[in-house]
Amino acid sequence: MNSILEHVSLKPYNTFGIDAHARYLAEFSTPDELAALLSWGSRSAPKAEGRQGTDVWPVLVLGGGSNILFTRDVDGLVLRNRIEGIDLIDEDEDYVYVQVGAGESWHGFVEHCLARDWAGVENLSLIPGSVGAAPMQNIGAYGVEIKDVFQELQAWSYADGRIYTFSLNDCAFGYRESVFKRQYRGEFVILTVTFRLPKKPVLHTEYGAIREELERMGVREPGIRDVSKAVIAIRRGRLPDPAEIGNAGSFFKNPTVPDEQFEALQAEFPEIVGYRNTGTDTTKIAAGWMIEQCGLKGYRHGDAGVHARQALVLVNYGGATGREIYELSEEIVVSVRQKFGVDLEREVNVF
Ligand code: EPU
Repeated sequence: MNSILEHVSLKPYNTFGIDAHARYLAEFSTPDELAALLSWGSRSAPKAEGRQGTDVWPVLVLGGGSNILFTRDVDGLVLRNRIEGIDLIDEDEDYVYVQVGAGESWHGFVEHCLARDWAGVENLSLIPGSVGAAPMQNIGAYGVEIKDVFQELQAWSYADGRIYTFSLNDCAFGYRESVFKRQYRGEFVILTVTFRLPKKPVLHTEYGAIREELERMGVREPGIRDVSKAVIAIRRGRLPDPAEIGNAGSFFKNPTVPDEQFEALQAEFPEIVGYRNTGTDTTKIAAGWMIEQCGLKGYRHGDAGVHARQALVLVNYGGATGREIYELSEEIVVSVRQKFGVDLEREVNVF
């Protein structure tokens, strides 16, 4: 069986760089290795913790650790998903079908696609994290979400140890949402994700920042590599690089409110930034704008801070604890509620 380390710092395994500890840490590269580790966990856990009976011993599967905030140690087993492989499994006139191991890095997969002229993921360039974590929250950026190129995924069920296939419909993707964050939370481990990528690109350059960046690059007729370069430039300009400063991207979701509420806010704050959710009577408000209006952009408390160029991103300047980041997020929630009467929901998973 794969080696199991004891009392390990999780600092290298979460992009916030929080120094939480795992009682046990191991990696798996196949479903069989996963099964063996889980069965070891269920046999050893009560003994290791001196507990018997009803207590649930936590098992936490980590991908790239780019969407999690540890506020405490994990008194259980942390498993790193290292399932590899990017395989062209099918092809028709219009699409290639590519199956990717959950442990592959998301941006590595994007680069693989760009090199082969497979379109569809260029707008999702440079998103930190792993392929297996991407469907959990339907990652999205600059007008594209993973659901737009998703075919199916395979996931291992804790309940019966069997592998299930989830179609697009089964995943019930929404804005930063899927069944894996809701009704099936903690019930499945994603093993592979299959993408349906168009051979003829349909570019999504409607996002203002992309158009401006392409213009700045002097590109008139962009291809997928140009769009990727533009996205990378925009992200590098606004978002902190987790290799340099701990963060997990947007900490909150952009909240959705009924149109009437948005109109009332607009009357009071004419500059408020919102986007109509087409086909509904709701509007999504730019949470970064509201946080900035609360005077919190660039705010710092100890080593926990609000990023100076993107107020939706919380950062760890080095020695912040997960609790400190969480408390800062609480302060933000309270400020935004007081000023705008809107509740922010965390996008990052808090452990
Ligand atoms: N804004 C401010 N101040 C700020 C930040 C933003 O006024 O400090 C305003 C901007 O001027 C703009 C609007 O808010 O008018 C939207 O800002 P931006 O384009 O930076 O995007 P966002 O809504 O803050 C979302 C995603 C990002 C994604 C970008 C681009 C969420 C929670 N976040 O951010 O995703 O990269 O759009 O599509 O939806 C992530 O999920 O981790 C992430 C980085």
